[in-house]
Amino acid sequence: MKALILSGGKGTRLRPLTYTGAKQLVPVANKPILWYGIESIVAAGITDIGIIISPETGEEIQEVTGNGDRFGANITYIPQDHPLGLAHAVKIAQPFLGDAPFIMYLGDNLIQDDLKPFLSKFESQDLDGLILLRSVSNPSAFGVAKVDQNGRVLQLVEKPKVPPSNLALVGVYFFNTVIHHAIASIVPSERGELEITDAIQALIDQQKKVESVQLNGWWLDTGKKDDLLEANRIILDTDLETKKGGEIDSKSQIIGRVNIGEGSKIVNSTVRGPVIIGENCHIENCFIGPYTSVGNKVTLIDADIEHSVLLEGAQILEIHQRIVDSLIGRRAKLEMAHQRPKALQFMIGDDTHIELV
Ligand code: TTP
Repeated sequence: MKALILSGGKGTRLRPLTYTGAKQLVPVANKPILWYGIESIVAAGITDIGIIISPETGEEIQEVTGNGDRFGANITYIPQDHPLGLAHAVKIAQPFLGDAPFIMYLGDNLIQDDLKPFLSKFESQDLDGLILLRSVSNPSAFGVAKVDQNGRVLQLVEKPKVPPSNLALVGVYFFNTVIHHAIASIVPSERGELEITDAIQALIDQQKKVESVQLNGWWLDTGKKDDLLEANRIILDTDLETKKGGEIDSKSQIIGRVNIGEGSKIVNSTVRGPVIIGENCHIENCFIGPYTSVGNKVTLIDADIEHSVLLEGAQILEIHQRIVDSLIGRRAKLEMAHQRPKALQFMIGDDTHIELV
């Protein structure tokens, strides 16, 4: 059994962050999203992992993630010249996959459930495909499956106007080698991509054994801001270890589960967990509220922030309004100007989204 993680793509929904970096490396609780997927695959006992990368962000992903040693895995990087679809990614990974069955995992997805029981079902029932489903309130926004009472998949529809069920396809799939023949038989969709849903539909049409399981736990597609903040909230809520590295002065209050990295300084501030603060940060006269992740080398002075993710090197200086539900990029700087006339002044990257009240 091998694994194929898709970590290329365009990342349009997470612009402007994706102009300068890979969305799969955006941190959730100060750990790259991609690493959660790798860890979960390794925990299921699969260590031979291929990662699809794009020309724009592939180098950064390789540099940060390495050859797999840190996960106890062996990672092979597979370049995809253009993001021509999920099934296209499988197609170009064929030399790596050979005739091994494999799990396919979208590198920006996070699921709570342990993968082992799904892998056991796939292997013990000798399935051609196993897809994971999650009930959602807005199925029209997803690929949706129609299944019979035993979980056998009857039909897949991409973003249906009239959904046949409320069961959305989660970005984790198990396949054996027949998927390669199915992919060879499909053509690009209207948006010009080779769709994995079309390939699975081809398997179903050929009477292959394609089954489904429904997730009980959460599933998040972190390719957009609100899901990313939600993932951050959930991981901080469930997985955060308390640690007090760095220096905390006597005027500061650390409440609840808070993890502070080495070399960070907290001065005259209140930090109310769950919160993670990276290494070498400077935090002074601040309130850091629940569900906030602060990357390494961040400076916060006279700031009030909660339910937010701040990436490495960000600075927030003397902003006397509470900042919530925010995703702040690497080295981004928000500061109060002292000169008159009082006015808002910006230098904002393309596709940036700012809400002022
Ligand atoms: P998506 O999030 O569906 O696509 P995208 O990355 O282009 O993002 P957006 O819709 O915001 O423009 O892709 C899911 C995952 O699969 C993601 O980790 C990127 C990866 N992917 C590839 O590796 N190759 C591809 O050809 C495509 C389409 C996606």
